[in-house]
Amino acid sequence: MFGAPEDMAAKEAAMPPNAWGTVRSLLHWDGLPTIRPRSSVRTRRSAKVDSDLQEPLGFAYMEPSKDRIAAAIGRLPSGCFILTAEHAGRTTGVLASWVQQASFDPPLITAALRRGRPIVELIEGSRGFVLNVIGDPPTALFKQFGKGFALEEDAFAGLAIEATPAGPRILSCPAYLVCRMRDRFSTGDHDLFLGEVIAGDGDPAVRPYVHLRSNGLSY
Ligand SMILES: Cc1cc2nc3c(=O)[nH]c(=O)nc-3n(C[C@H](O)[C@H](O)[C@H](O)COP(=O)(O)O)c2cc1C
Repeated sequence: MFGAPEDMAAKEAAMPPNAWGTVRSLLHWDGLPTIRPRSSVRTRRSAKVDSDLQEPLGFAYMEPSKDRIAAAIGRLPSGCFILTAEHAGRTTGVLASWVQQASFDPPLITAALRRGRPIVELIEGSRGFVLNVIGDPPTALFKQFGKGFALEEDAFAGLAIEATPAGPRILSCPAYLVCRMRDRFSTGDHDLFLGEVIAGDGDPAVRPYVHLRSNGLSY
């Protein structure tokens, strides 16, 4: 279910009768099985064992130092996004770059969020979020949402936005994806949120901003 019944009733009353009716019915839809992490995941391991380290080959850290690993990870290109969410009358947004497509059918994406980010509480509450894609060159949005907001602050002051059932869509962004949260996985110091894209639009003529780092061990 998407949100508490009283939240949804208030949202529905506030919303004009338009295409979001379809989105709302999808958010209410419980017909799909929830994807759960498998309790035992079989990984392929080399049968050969390095006798010095007593670690299966291919799993031990190898020659390069941590800063070379950091440089390599920094060459993984990503986009930058304003992830937004709304729950129980509270709304916020955060700058995020650890976002990737995970499936064609159903259309799934993942977003990694550091545990404890204020937005996580809203995503967990509503079980939805919106990805707003930042165009190239990146706008002031990058700076505005990169500093982080407390839930009491108005993250969207001065911005043209449109409400969706899962959070605000920022109109100046070249694309947006409305996602229903399908699952959450613990992945070290971040949690991975799996979302099913249930609505969205994008302008193929506008290039998204591509983010590269010299050090992949910071954002
Ligand atoms: C370029 C960039 C990309 C970021 N990507 C993510 C991300 O994918 N996940 C995340 O949890 N935080 C990410 N952040 C951090 C958040 O935007 C964070 O709220 C903000 O930097 C404030 O951090 P603080 O509250 O820890 O000071 C990113 C920050 C920057 C500058």
